[in-house]
This record gives sequence, C-alpha cells and structure tokens, in this order.
Amino acid sequence: MKPWFVSLALPFALLLPVDAKAQRSIVFEEAAFPERGVLAIAVAEGLAGRDFDALDAASQGALRRAATAAGFKGGKGSKLDLPGFASYERVLLVGMGKDSPDALALRDVGGAVAQHFASSASAQPVNLYWGGSEGDAASQLAMGVALGQYRFDQYKSNGKPVTGDVLIRTPAGRAAAAQWQREWQPVAQAVNFARDLITEPANAIYPESFVERVREQARGLPVTLEVLDVAAMEKLGMGGMLSVGQGSARPPRMLLLRYNGGRAGDAPLAFVGKGITFDSGGISIKGNDGMWRMKYDMAGAAASTAAVLALAGRRAPVNAVAVAALAENMPSGTADRPGDVIRTASGKTFEVMSTDAEGRMVLVDALWYVQRQDKPKVIIDIATLTGSIVTALGNDYAGLFSRDDALASQLYQSGQNSGNWVWRMPLLDSYGPMLASPIADMRNGGGRPSSGTAAWFLGEWVARGTPWAHVDMAGMAWIESGGKPTSPAGATGFGVLLFDQFVRDHHQGK
Ligand code: BES
Ligand code: ZN
Ligand code: MN
Repeated sequence: MKPWFVSLALPFALLLPVDAKAQRSIVFEEAAFPERGVLAIAVAEGLAGRDFDALDAASQGALRRAATAAGFKGGKGSKLDLPGFASYERVLLVGMGKDSPDALALRDVGGAVAQHFASSASAQPVNLYWGGSEGDAASQLAMGVALGQYRFDQYKSNGKPVTGDVLIRTPAGRAAAAQWQREWQPVAQAVNFARDLITEPANAIYPESFVERVREQARGLPVTLEVLDVAAMEKLGMGGMLSVGQGSARPPRMLLLRYNGGRAGDAPLAFVGKGITFDSGGISIKGNDGMWRMKYDMAGAAASTAAVLALAGRRAPVNAVAVAALAENMPSGTADRPGDVIRTASGKTFEVMSTDAEGRMVLVDALWYVQRQDKPKVIIDIATLTGSIVTALGNDYAGLFSRDDALASQLYQSGQNSGNWVWRMPLLDSYGPMLASPIADMRNGGGRPSSGTAAWFLGEWVARGTPWAHVDMAGMAWIESGGKPTSPAGATGFGVLLFDQFVRDHHQGK
C-alpha cells in the first residue's frame, strides 16, 4: 500500500513548473572590493592590472606568489582558481590579455566567469569585481555573463537549478546597471532567444510554432507582426515558399516583424532569414549522417527576427523589418521534385535541380515581398545556405556576398566589432550562365562555386541599385563541441550581434 501522501503529492508535482531558475541573475552593486565569498577578477598579461594590484597589495603579495607558483600569467583565455585564498572562499583569476581590453575581451571575461561557476556551487553568489568607473566596461562584462551562461535544459528531467546571483561589483554601480538594462540586456536576451529557437527540435519548432514563439517574445515590445499563411501566399503566387513547404504536414509561413524606432517614413533596414525548420533535403534526400542537425536550418530566420527584437528592446533609433521565410523541407507524395518548374511571386521561374537547394527557393519570395511592402534602404539576408561555404571558411567566418563595396566593408567592420565575423567572397557575373536552364529563367543549383551561384541566384530577386548583402552562415549556426566563453557548445545565435552592431556602427549616429 502506498502511503496517502504519495497519491496526493503526485498531481501536485505534475503541476509544479519545471523551470527552476536555470541561469544566474545579474545584479550590479556599487561597491568596493568585496572581502569575503567567491571573488572573480580580470588580470592582464604579465600579472598586471588595477584589480590584480589591489588584491595583491591587500594580501601582502600572496596573490602574486600564488599566481606565479601556479604558472598563471594572465594570458587571454587562461584561468586560475584559488580555493580558500586569504579571507575568501575562492578567488578566480581570469586572464584577459592586454591591459586595455576591448568590448569583446571583456565579454570573454564575463563568459569565462559564468562558465566556470556553471556547474559547481550553484547556490553561491559570485562577486565579479571591476574597479573601473566607466559603465560601459561593466555592461560588457555582464553581456559576457549573460551569453556565456546560456544553457538549454528544458527537456532534462533532472536539470539543476541555480540560485546564486552574479554580483557585478563596480564603482560604476548604478550607472552601469542602467546602461546594461537599457542598452545591452535586451540584446543578450535576444541572442539567447535565438539560441532557444535553434536548439528546439523540429517536432517543437515548425513554421506555425516559430511564429507563436516570436509572438510571445514580442509581447510588450513596440513591434508588429504580419503573418502570411498558405492562402495568402497562394494569392501572391509565392511558388518558392509553397513548393518547399508542400511536402510537409506542417504548412509554411512567412513572418514579418516590424519595428519603427527611427524617423517616421524613413526607409527601414531589412533582415531576411532562411527559416527551414527541418531540412531533410526533400526528394533529393540527405544521408542520415548528422541529418538531425538540420533542425538548425532556421538559424537565419532566428537571427533576423531576434535582431529586430533586440533593436526594439533597446529602443534603437532606427526602422527595421525582419522577414522569416519558414517552411519544412520533407519528402512525401506531395513534395516538389527535381525537374519541377516553379513560378515565384515576382513572376520569375526556376527549374528545380535539387530539392535540397531549398533555402534560396523560399528566400527569393521573401526578398521580393519585403521590397514590395517596405521599400527597404538596405537588405541583408542571412541563411545556413550551402555546405560549400563551410568547406571554404570553416567555423570562424560566415561568407559575405555583396555587389556593394560600402555595405560589404560596413558589415565586415561590424563583424569584427561584434565577434560575429564575416569574410567577403566574390559575387561574379560569370556565375549567371552556370545556372542557365533550357526551359525556365534559371536553375536552382549548379556550378562549382556553389556558395557563389547560390548568392547569385538570390541576387536575381533584388532590384539592382538596392544595397544588398547575403550572409551564408552555414558554418556558424552551431558549435559541435567545446564552445567559446560567450557561446557554449550548441546553437550560437550568430547574426543577432552582427545586425545589432551594424545598426550601432552605421545606422544610429551613436
Ligand atoms: N541547409 C543546407 C546547407 C547546410 C549544410 C547548412 C551544412 C549547414 C550545414 C542547404 O539547404 C543545402 O542542402 N545545400 C546544398 C545545396 C546544393 C544542393 C546546391 C549543399 O550545400 O549541398
Ligand atoms: Zn537547407
Ligand atoms: Mn537543403
């Protein structure tokens, strides 16, 4: 016989929310050097820096002796954990390289601290001390903590909750807190939202549920959503979207997310994302090896929509629209086939060489629609488009294709500033003939430089003269193992920081 409380407790347990706090709250405190507890500080190369010196002096040189004995020099990416040091429970030294760290180096420090304490002593608050009085540096540390501590354990029945805060203690105090909340926290939240969408499997995220997740996330923000369903897309003649979606039981959607924080009537920036919620290849089916990864084939759509949520969240003075071209690419009796000729909304036709070249098929209808509806002044599309960009650039740089030199160099710069690196690839007129079709305007695939011909294909749907760039992020969506201080293994959220930074650098007069 079960004791009575078992049967009583069970329904209760089922109702309890599983989401015990998975991440540490970030709290700013205007404070001098903490003297107890868990302390983390940044140390410059050669055991230098304001905070190191202060703690070393306070400990009568014990800190330098301990660091030297352990061979710790403060190099970028190095760490030294000193349990029981002086009056502290633990002191963590984080090497930051040079003594005048830029925003990315500070984020790496914050991320290293967050990751170091991710699994251990999770109930313990962590004091991250920063002796500088500028609010900006402290916000960047917080940015690193927020990005670096990301994890997705929603489906783990025994996910460990954490309760200890990260206390960023700094003389900058309240000013830093305000700056973090206003300027950066919405951006970190957007990156982590994109990571959630990407990590979610394709039985949870499909075109309709993608839209609903964005709708929830947009609640309270000054944005509007427009959703095209199948009937609307049929009316518009969006053969690209419809042909990719027609093999799946999950109908396709096109989502537009608009934010107008700039001057009324100013043409917006458009961010267009590939949103294939699962890419099986369709009838041109992929091999099973690693096919599960194709749940992340909507990472471009996640990046574009999350970027606009970030801009809205921090009330950036800019007008922007995100387009998510959402479809599931599946083989079935209703799927599109190789050889099919598709008429897109613009009237242009293409012949399907491979149903696995589906990204460009959905993107061209999205590019056409946003040009017609929003007359954007700049269009940037982002997509996990081709395996060959991974062959060319690996997992460090996304491929950047543009005919506009100014836009290309702006994006390169913002890539460097945000840590979302992009490397320019050629986009040559000679790629056009490689896609010639005997019966349609062109084919959806062909040619050796297949990332290049894919870019060329997209460009056929963009009015010449409109500044346009294409970002092929196939190698950047996912980190297989290891991870980085601000990007644990798994979904990276690549593109959100790039677009946010692009707006900061070039479209808001800072
Ligand atoms: N989603 C894939 C590209 C991809 C590959 C993304 C690896 C991330 C990692 C895309 O739809 C695709 O299948 N592309 C084909 C194009 C080809 C059929 C012209 C490719 O790259 O092989
Ligand atoms: Zn794909
Ligand atoms: Mn494909």
